[in-house]
Amino acid sequence: MTIAEPFHIIAHRGASAYAPENTMAAFRLAAEMGIREIETDVGYTRDGAIILFHDNTLDRTTDGTGSPGDYTLAELKELDAGSWGDRPIPDGSHEPPVSWSGDYAGEQLLTLQELLDAFGDQFVYHIEIKRPAPGLVSDVLQALRERDLLESVYMNTINDFDSLLEVRQQEPSVKTAWSPVNLLLGEGDGRHVVQQAADHGISMFVFNSTTLDPALVALAKELGMETRCSGIKNRDQMIEAVEAGCNGMTINWPDWLVECVDDRTK
Ligand code: G3P
Ligand code: CA
Repeated sequence: MTIAEPFHIIAHRGASAYAPENTMAAFRLAAEMGIREIETDVGYTRDGAIILFHDNTLDRTTDGTGSPGDYTLAELKELDAGSWGDRPIPDGSHEPPVSWSGDYAGEQLLTLQELLDAFGDQFVYHIEIKRPAPGLVSDVLQALRERDLLESVYMNTINDFDSLLEVRQQEPSVKTAWSPVNLLLGEGDGRHVVQQAADHGISMFVFNSTTLDPALVALAKELGMETRCSGIKNRDQMIEAVEAGCNGMTINWPDWLVECVDDRTK
């Protein structure tokens, strides 16, 4: 079985199986593992800073509560985002367990600018507009533009197509990645969804492990898009995505994927 070309090994929220997600520790660990691409989630703080945070509330991964958008950056910086690894995963969470060996107590939440300043063009950044808000796409593009990183990014959304159209309008050369989970899980024909993405110049069509379909992977590639998978929770799902022909995936265990690619390209 060959590996698709190009192939993106993307540390999901950093090397998040091994260090607290979306913190400097997780991104640093990804870099130490030799990983060249990371994924992260952006949204505004109450005072308009761009914070890297996945969930709708602070509860699972910090000692805070409520929405990150209800706090100023200074308030969010007071939180401990690195001590939650030994807590049980809440019932109903779709997040896989973590197994940290390091002590990450006191790890802070990060802004997008801090991430970009720390790693520059060492990474390709897959930036998900997690909490769309007026001005957010513009501000993210500006942060990238100021650092000459517009070529090192895929702007990503799950379901939200409008933010990607905004990216296309403001910076047509910036790569876009769309993960239309709801549409693919709905009753319509997935081929039309893939066609819609291609018609609007989307660069990368993103499947979730629950929506992965090798025929749609092939169609997306025929229409000139790259494909990737997300939502990988175990090795079997990782291998399934490789074998479906995806051009890579976001994964909490990037080391597994490095090993898998090495084995298959020997
Ligand atoms: O494209 C979506 C993917 O990168 C995964 O993100 O927010 O579902 O963990 P999330
Ligand atoms: Ca994400």
